[in-house]
Amino acid sequence: MVINVCLAGATGWAGSELARSIAKTSDIALVAAISRKQAGRSLGEVLGEPRLACPIYASATEALAHACDVFVEYTKPASAKGNILAALESGAHVVVGTSGLTDGDYADIDAVARKRHRGVLACGNFALTAVLLQKFAEAAAKLIPQWEIIDYAHDDKIDAPSGTVRELAARLSKVRNPQPTVPIDRTVGPREARGATVSGSQVHSLRLPGYVIGAEIIFGMPDQKLAIRHDAGSSARPYVDGAMLAIRKVSTLVGAHRGLDSVLDL
Ligand SMILES: NC(=O)c1ccc[n+]([C@@H]2O[C@H](COP(=O)([O-])OP(=O)(O)OC[C@H]3O[C@@H](n4cnc5c(N)ncnc54)[C@H](OP(=O)(O)O)[C@@H]3O)[C@@H](O)[C@H]2O)c1
Repeated sequence: MVINVCLAGATGWAGSELARSIAKTSDIALVAAISRKQAGRSLGEVLGEPRLACPIYASATEALAHACDVFVEYTKPASAKGNILAALESGAHVVVGTSGLTDGDYADIDAVARKRHRGVLACGNFALTAVLLQKFAEAAAKLIPQWEIIDYAHDDKIDAPSGTVRELAARLSKVRNPQPTVPIDRTVGPREARGATVSGSQVHSLRLPGYVIGAEIIFGMPDQKLAIRHDAGSSARPYVDGAMLAIRKVSTLVGAHRGLDSVLDL
């Protein structure tokens, strides 16, 4: 059975890589795409991929006139929520790659998804290695009470810490709060030297040329330590496999779920 997909942000950095991979599969088909600048053209023409014949529309409302099973949101935070709600109202399940939606946004989305009996799967980082870092870190945090996180990114990334690191810290806070031997507010010297406290974890953000994007969590115990690190390269390829998995699995869910592990047997 083919899963018909409408892809919002299909001409963007992440969306176009996903579209190119969908072109190579037989079980997922793109029926409509969304981009304001390329509206009226075919996605295949814009991406130079003849296997993608679907039309591009300027808005979700127009694109959703095509029946689809799954709507993929890969635009910007300002347009994401409206697109997701429109897709749910049209009867589609939704995969969200766009970062920056708040807990309040997800509460609203969850209410509509449950009313419509549809699934929403949102993941701030679809890279399987990032998903595994989060899972392994949660397991380690159950046994090891002290850790700190390093957030690596290119020099021109303006936000800090990254969405992936925020998500990691938030997930770990549900396991426990780390207990530094010297409480942070008793630091002698500049308090900032100990990093920022994000959801209870100390986070140190590096923004330097030569880095792309990565996250490392270091757990420390007397006379032993454990470091778990994820690094992504400069292409959008790492985010494709997780997004494809989400497209294939989202119809098994009802309501809004965050994290790819909702559909992984980990
Ligand atoms: N979950 C993950 O693993 C993952 C991975 C990479 C990126 N992301 C996130 O995904 C989002 C997109 O990132 P990106 O780097 O691909 O951005 P991008 O290259 O700027 O692409 C954005 C896409 O959305 C379209 N778009 C933007 N605003 C729109 C609007 N108001 N209405 C309709 N279409 C709109 C753009 O086309 P037009 O400008 O022509 O409208 C373009 O196709 C960001 O939130 C990013 O943080 C997540």
